[in-house]
Amino acid sequence: MMETYNVLESEDIPQVAMDAMNDVHREELAIVNQLNTAILANKPANITLLCEDWLAHTEAHFSKENGMMEKYNFPAYHCHHAEHVEALQGLRDIINAWNEDEDLEGLTVYVQITWPKWYIDHISTMDVVTSAFIKQSI
Ligand SMILES: [Fe+2]
Ligand SMILES: [Fe+2]
Repeated sequence: MMETYNVLESEDIPQVAMDAMNDVHREELAIVNQLNTAILANKPANITLLCEDWLAHTEAHFSKENGMMEKYNFPAYHCHHAEHVEALQGLRDIINAWNEDEDLEGLTVYVQITWPKWYIDHISTMDVVTSAFIKQSI
């Protein structure tokens, strides 16, 4: 039996004021935990599919938050949006490296170390403040 583990648990994700955002954050974590399992099992086809799911989910996630910030004129839009742009580029780069060269080591470091830290950081700062602002504006 292969040993696996979750890169984060649902309870590790900081809660924001809007439930719809919390749901999206938990969905993404579920994809990343499945991806980590595929990495540890060394299943390249599963890794590739889960990377596609992850990228599509992240694009939708960020675009939804960006749209809400615009709709409600969130004052720190540029700051939050810039973090999305940078993170999406980082994710695209790491997935491209996987697709082109099967760079498993780069992907593993990203999934197990870089991403969990970024995710907690981003949600506990940008998403918490944005969600509180939007909730009181609705
Ligand atoms: Fe978010
Ligand atoms: Fe965000």
